[in-house]
Amino acid sequence: REAMTTVLLVLGLLLGLYALLYYNCIRGAKCRAQSSLRGKTVVITGGNTGIGKMTALDLARRKARVILACRSRARGEAAVYDIRRESGNNEVLFMSLDLASLDSVRAFAETFLRSEPRLDILINNAGGNLITESDGFNLVFQVNHLGHFLLTHLLLERLKLSAPSRVVIVASSAHRSGKIDFENLHKPVEGILQNFQAYCNSKLANILYARELANKLEGTDVTCYAVHPGECGSSLSLGMHLPNPAQVPRGKRSEHRYSRREVQSSPV
Ligand SMILES: NC(=O)c1ccc[n+]([C@@H]2O[C@H](COP(=O)([O-])OP(=O)(O)OC[C@H]3O[C@@H](n4cnc5c(N)ncnc54)[C@H](OP(=O)(O)O)[C@@H]3O)[C@@H](O)[C@H]2O)c1
Repeated sequence: REAMTTVLLVLGLLLGLYALLYYNCIRGAKCRAQSSLRGKTVVITGGNTGIGKMTALDLARRKARVILACRSRARGEAAVYDIRRESGNNEVLFMSLDLASLDSVRAFAETFLRSEPRLDILINNAGGNLITESDGFNLVFQVNHLGHFLLTHLLLERLKLSAPSRVVIVASSAHRSGKIDFENLHKPVEGILQNFQAYCNSKLANILYARELANKLEGTDVTCYAVHPGECGSSLSLGMHLPNPAQVPRGKRSEHRYSRREVQSSPV
C-alpha cells in the first residue's frame, strides 16, 4: 500500500512538472492581433501546410493579399482553395517556389516583381529538419537558410518601396544547439543526428541573419524579426520535407537521391 502511494505521488509530481514545463516553456503565446491588413501584400513561404497555412489563414481573414510560395502546385492550390473558403478572401494566390533550387528562387522573385506592385510582409516560414539526402550540398541549410537569404535579397527593394514593411523569419529555439562551422556548413549530412544538428545550425543562421539584416535596414522603415513559433504538431517531424522530384530538372536529378520509403512518404 505504501509503495502504491509512493508511485502515485511520483506520477502526480511528474505530471505537475510536465504541466509546468508545457504551459511555461513549450506552449507559445497566441497571436490575438485583429488589425486590418487590407491593402497589404504578404508573401509566405511554405504556406500550404502547418504553421505557414495557419498564419496565411489568419492574414487572409484580416483582409491581406496573401501569396503562398510553395514548391508543389497541387498542395499550394489546395491550400489556396481552403484558405479562400475559410476566410472569404479571394485574394489568396499560389506562386511556385522551391527553396532547394536557387534558380527557382530567382524565377519566383522575377514573377513576383513583375506581377505584384507591393510587398508589405515577407514571411520566411518554409523549413524542415529531415530533408536527408543531397549530393553536392546540405539541403537543410539550403532550404531553411540559403534559399530564404537569396529570396529576401531579391525582394528587398520592393519591401523598401512599400515601407513601413517587415521581414519575419520563422526560426526555432533549436538554434541554441546550433554551430556555425564555415568549413562544413554547406556539406551534405547523413543520419538523424547529423540531420538534426544541421537543422539547429540552419536555425542559428536564421537568427544571425535576422540580426544582421535588422542592422543593415536601420533607418529604412523595413523591420526584421526572428520568431520561435512554439512546439506545434506539424509534418515537420514526420520527414516529409523532400524536394519535389517533378520540379528537379532531369539533368540534375542525381543531386537529389531519395530512398524508396522517403518517396512513398512524400505527399506528392
Ligand atoms: N513545428 C514546430 O514545432 C516548430 C518549432 C520551431 C520552429 N518551427 C519552424 O516553423 C516553420 C514551419 O514548420 P512547420 O512546423 O509548419 O512544418 P510543416 O508543416 O512541415 O511545413 C513546412 C513547410 O515548408 C515547406 N517546404 C519544405 N521544403 C521546401 C522547399 N524546398 N521549398 C519550398 N517549401 C518547402 C513545406 O512544403 P511541402 O508541403 O511541399 O513539404 C511546408 O509547406 C519551419 O521553419 C520550422 O523550422 C516549427
